[in-house]
Amino acid sequence: MSQTLTFDVLIIGSGAAGLTLGLSLPEHLKVAIISKDSMDAGSTRWAQGGVAAVLDEEDSVDAHVADTLTAGAGLCNEAAVRFTVGNSTEAIQWLIDLGVPFTKDGEDQFHLTREGGHSARRIIHAADATGHAISDTLLQKAEERKNLTLLHDYIAVDLITGDKLGLEHHACIGGYFLNKKTGEVDAVTAKATALATGGASKVYLYTSNPDGASGDGIAMAWRAGCRVANMEFNQFHPTCLYHPQAGSFLITEAVRGEGGKLLLPNGKRFMDKFDERAELAPRDIVARAIDHEMKRLGADCLFLDISHKPAEFIREHFPTIYDRCLQLGIDITKDPIPVVPAAHYTCGGVVSDNAGRTDIDRLYAIGETACTGLHGANRLASNSLLECLVYARAAAADIEAQIAQIPAPDPVPHWDSSQVTDSDEDVVISHNWDELRRFMWDYVGIVRTTKRLVRAKHRVKLLRQEIQEFYSNHKVTNDLLELRNLVDVADVIIRSALMRKESRGLHYSRDYPEALPRAFDTVLMSKYISELGSL
Ligand code: FAD
Ligand code: SIN
Repeated sequence: MSQTLTFDVLIIGSGAAGLTLGLSLPEHLKVAIISKDSMDAGSTRWAQGGVAAVLDEEDSVDAHVADTLTAGAGLCNEAAVRFTVGNSTEAIQWLIDLGVPFTKDGEDQFHLTREGGHSARRIIHAADATGHAISDTLLQKAEERKNLTLLHDYIAVDLITGDKLGLEHHACIGGYFLNKKTGEVDAVTAKATALATGGASKVYLYTSNPDGASGDGIAMAWRAGCRVANMEFNQFHPTCLYHPQAGSFLITEAVRGEGGKLLLPNGKRFMDKFDERAELAPRDIVARAIDHEMKRLGADCLFLDISHKPAEFIREHFPTIYDRCLQLGIDITKDPIPVVPAAHYTCGGVVSDNAGRTDIDRLYAIGETACTGLHGANRLASNSLLECLVYARAAAADIEAQIAQIPAPDPVPHWDSSQVTDSDEDVVISHNWDELRRFMWDYVGIVRTTKRLVRAKHRVKLLRQEIQEFYSNHKVTNDLLELRNLVDVADVIIRSALMRKESRGLHYSRDYPEALPRAFDTVLMSKYISELGSL
């Protein structure tokens, strides 16, 4: 029997953004934190390198801001960058106070590593498993908090807004959720709702992301009427492990930060031909260089070599990578690591401001789901976890300030499944899932052309029709919901890429190889009215 659950605050997503928001809200509020899989699902747990922040006396907010703006290729919103970096030290202190076991360098100092595009050592980390340490600590604290209800295996289907119910306001009231254990669709209502649902890199065939990165929050916000921006900027991480049994496994950029060299199959370095910063150039440049060399040589992969460093140093700094590679027969203290680029991060997302507020009243978007203007055309390494923390804390302060004035959520109808049947053709879902991710990789990948984008646009139009028809006639399942979201996200990525008639940051078009003199955001508005403008 489907039910309606009511809270003060509904947080969809239990990664760094969702848990930080939950833990930062006052304890008198009744809060739900919901995950579509286990509570530790999502990208956060897989983060390796660390969190970028101004922590060293020799470093400065200005230097971190400058590096972020340079990586963002002229498209960052400087106010958002200053806001994020300006709050970085405090956000890290919050994690330290909660007990995240960051790697130490001596008695009272933390070890800071370096990654591409950073002019200083400023990445605080827990060896090469930073996300694991953060996720464990936040989850443990959340479980201890009596006002937080943690619901897992509960997948959001769509947001509920006033206008969908024919009410006079357009505000968000909550969402419908498929309870994967009972098969029922429940309503969850709240005075404030936050999307913390992560990114959409699963739209590509090869990705560093875990399975659930299907852009659900972006698609739901888009369908509800929010603007989405800069969706053409899909970040490809240069170095994912290339091995038939590896699945998606990242080789952190910190390996290059600590001296790792990129090599061609003949053992020669090549990055200095592409950028004077060589291996430490921002990752759009490194990923494109690897892609170029692989295509030029017809190579299946290139190599990342750290074996010139002492074996003890490698095992101490990169224990997770060392163990994983060794299981696959690669001893990274002796051998170069086979690597390829893979889709890693969604720089665009739901347009949101410095408090995570979106275009829809009472709806917030935080973390990878949001587009705050911090990343511009290319995210600087390790700025993502920082963004999750800073914006979640800011959203908590805003919700705390507003909540007393927000009326109790309107009553909502039960989900109606009287007109749909169980699917007898799940092959439609698996086939479309594979087709979508393959053509996105082939036509909307690291190097783009208008012809390929137009091909992708035709394909996505057909797929959207077919999936929409399937959705209208069949009971919802996890896979169907993710596919429906992925195809909506693919559609906005392709539209955005076609609108950008230049090359900038992560969007490289062979037809428009130069950057325009002025940078514009690609802002898509609902009902497919599009405009170029500023966030
Ligand atoms: P996530 O951590 O992805 O969490 C999403 C949550 O939303 C999950 O709980 C999921 O179950 C839930 N969810 C999604 N859809 C629904 C739905 N429909 N209904 C209910 N729940 C839903 N960034 C850094 O800054 N430093 C790093 O070192 C770093 N390393 C990385 C390494 C890897 C391998 C990967 C994949 C990413 C890395 N990143 C790194 C990026 C960073 O980890 C992510 O951007 C960040 O963790 C996103 O956090 P989030 O809270 O926004 O979302
Ligand atoms: C990495 O460790 O290379 C990933 C860092 C990031 O995505 O910011």
